[in-house]
Amino acid sequence: MDKFVIEGGVALRGEVEASVAKNSVLPLLAATLLTREPCRILDVPRLSDVGTMLTILRALGVECLHEEDGSVTTRVVDETKCEAPYKLVRTMRASICVLGPLLGRRRRARVSFPGGCVFGPRPIDLHLRGFRALGAELELEGGYIVGDARSLRGGEMYLGGPFGSTVTGTANVLMAAVLAEGTTLIDMAACEPEVQDVANFLVAMGADIRGIGTPTLEVHGVAELHGATYRPVPDRIEAGTFLAAAAITGGTVTVRKCRPDHLRAVTERLQAVGCRVKTGEDWVSCSRHARLQAADVTTLPYPGFPTDLQAQFMSVVCLADGVSVITEKVYPERFMHISELERMRSRIRKEGNCAIVHGTDWLSGAPVIASDLRASAALVLAGLVAEGKTTVRRIYHLDRGYERMERKLQHLGARIERVRDEDEGKGEDS
Ligand code: EPU
Repeated sequence: MDKFVIEGGVALRGEVEASVAKNSVLPLLAATLLTREPCRILDVPRLSDVGTMLTILRALGVECLHEEDGSVTTRVVDETKCEAPYKLVRTMRASICVLGPLLGRRRRARVSFPGGCVFGPRPIDLHLRGFRALGAELELEGGYIVGDARSLRGGEMYLGGPFGSTVTGTANVLMAAVLAEGTTLIDMAACEPEVQDVANFLVAMGADIRGIGTPTLEVHGVAELHGATYRPVPDRIEAGTFLAAAAITGGTVTVRKCRPDHLRAVTERLQAVGCRVKTGEDWVSCSRHARLQAADVTTLPYPGFPTDLQAQFMSVVCLADGVSVITEKVYPERFMHISELERMRSRIRKEGNCAIVHGTDWLSGAPVIASDLRASAALVLAGLVAEGKTTVRRIYHLDRGYERMERKLQHLGARIERVRDEDEGKGEDS
């Protein structure tokens, strides 16, 4: 296992390119199950989650090749395989995205139930509600969702839950609906750019979907889909993390090859904490010259402020002048980073789904442990500005969703190294 060793105190300066969005790539790869023709997804980042999805696809009879130039080519060679096993699904919740395409195309599926995760329960009842509305019969047997969709047909459904819509649920149901006979109406569909991307890829494969990017999707089922070549949208969360790095270190960072329109809620909050933000057609730059100001952040479904940047913004306001309230409205328990940030001298009090952050003048470098992907990013950001040395362990979480993060940060001037963690696994936190 690796860890990061960071010497804080450098104001980051320069330009980085955003990779394409992990949360688009994963369902897009699953969507390639919907056709026997070859598909090509361009610029796919080398993330461990991508590796997991390719392993699952191979288990489902798909030949996949991740080429030198980043493109992934897929070709279905065996449509009899319908099982996504526990040992693969348990490492990545997005594996559930194969359920929709399997039901849509192969009309049966056996997919391990993904279970909870470190930041609280993550049910899939809305996915199941959607599939049932399409006529699929689903049972839970031995930890697996066993689906029979021989009588799949269009249907009407409402995909809202207590925390809004569902991102992978919308994509999942959409992937089944495109091959269901008749018309499907999905109300309270998620509008995230990554969901739009899945819909646009399906259209490129021959699907008939109206209302993309709105909460009401109308799907007219088609008999077959064909192969397609597609470049997914840039990763707004990765872009937002680098902009937050400029904010926390008091530097100037330009993120190229991104979508400023996908980042409006983020750039608005960067301005609220005292940053200057400039945008062009496909770039955003963020700089800060004065003290950080306290600002409240409330996470919401898109186009609201993304939950996947909540932890990173918490690190930023740890150094702000004043008190900031961070309210988590998508995952009320997503606060694993608080205890580690406290080790770095931040002052945070958790109250229900809120974190009340009292800004401080400086953070202290410390050994910390990453608990999940975005919490890891928050600890790295704090380490970049903390006095002295910070070691962030268990960065395999980070490698799930950030491509070569340390190299991009080094390019901006950060003193960060990836080193082998010789002490990991000795049970010091048991
Ligand atoms: N929910 C339900 N029932 C469901 C599904 C979701 O109640 O059937 C609830 C969840 O518990 C949560 C809310 O609805 O409170 C939203 O969950 P959603 O289904 O939208 O999340 P997801 O699709 O499982 C994706 C991203 C997450 C991101 C969320 C929210 C992927 C692969 N994952 O998860 O990304 O946090 O949407 O935007 O797209 C990450 O990249 O670090 C990450 C966790």
